[in-house]
Amino acid sequence: MTSDEEAVARASQAFADTFGGPPEGVWAAPGRVNVIGEHTDYNAGFVLPVALPHTTRAAVARRHDGRVAFASRQGDGSVVELDLAELAPGRPEGWAGYPAGVVWGVRDRLGAGVSVLVDTDVPVGAGLSSSAALTCSVALALRDLVAPELDRPDLVELARRAENDFVGAPTGILDQSASVLCTEGHALFLDTRDRTSEQVPLDLAAAGLAVLVVDSGVTHEHAGGGYGDRRRECELAAERLGVAFLREIDDVAGLDALVDGTPEGGVLLRRARHIVTENARVLEVVAALRGDADPRRIGPILTAGHESLRDDFEISVPALDAIVESATAAGAYGARMVGGGFGGSAIALVEADALDSVTAAVTERFGREGHGPPRTFTAVPSAGARRLS
Ligand code: GLA
Repeated sequence: MTSDEEAVARASQAFADTFGGPPEGVWAAPGRVNVIGEHTDYNAGFVLPVALPHTTRAAVARRHDGRVAFASRQGDGSVVELDLAELAPGRPEGWAGYPAGVVWGVRDRLGAGVSVLVDTDVPVGAGLSSSAALTCSVALALRDLVAPELDRPDLVELARRAENDFVGAPTGILDQSASVLCTEGHALFLDTRDRTSEQVPLDLAAAGLAVLVVDSGVTHEHAGGGYGDRRRECELAAERLGVAFLREIDDVAGLDALVDGTPEGGVLLRRARHIVTENARVLEVVAALRGDADPRRIGPILTAGHESLRDDFEISVPALDAIVESATAAGAYGARMVGGGFGGSAIALVEADALDSVTAAVTERFGREGHGPPRTFTAVPSAGARRLS
């Protein structure tokens, strides 16, 4: 991982090369992996993410000409630039829509414009919340520069609105909460209904364990497609059950009313069953981590979560199933796909000294099945969004 000093120097230099002067500061926000609690967030349920050491850095300075400008060190050197007054949902399009959506959220404060240069080592399209790292780094920067009264939960909301209302991606609150609220050495237990949270200590290294992250290389796209379909199916199931959110149901027996003999009823039952059982799995994992139980015990809960995402929620893909199967066959205590689905990454809970053998087993299976070699790293619970300079 890039050290903070290197990150500041690199982003500041790129900012100066692009905009002809120094930034007012450099801010960082991390990507995340979710230990458990997938697709529960827009159902007002529970999640348990950790922040990754991988961050997006935003070098930012206010301007005086009423323009807003966005550049990326990962881009082709071009700058997306327009009048502050021209910002509107969907304009600009593409990657710049994410930071632009955050600027749009505080446009009343930013009378005379802003320049933003971003630099990231969060893998993009890998289901590790590169978009939240982007929006949250810019949200924190703008808070410090023009909106000091915003607290961290406000920043989560600012970043969420950028993604939902400006970019048009119908995501929940998981990724932005993880990026802003996580702390080093902890998982964030968040109740997305009332947004209360608890920092749950997660020192797997002390137990001789590690979380292996494997990027399947299959990219996903949240702004459309399957993610939105799943969200609508959950909303429809809740409506048929007469509840505001599926979170309100805590026993699968409460889903019987969805069974109406039609194929659609069967689909809604499976979707809702995933949400109900997934919320229970989050509580089970939190209870195990809070007590002094051996953390290896959470392994089978993770694998059960994967099976539910694969069979009931139907958002896994063969490459993710291959990671889970090969990792568990090679000795992982549990494994599951993470994030929105249809691609992205999977995690496996392994003995620290078995990291190499589990990685080798996954790589061998990928080779055999014609997937490209997987990118792997270990997830150490890291700090949330912060100012670097
Ligand atoms: C994506 C979304 C989140 C959440 C996860 C699934 O990462 O951005 O809001 O719904 O998928 O848990």
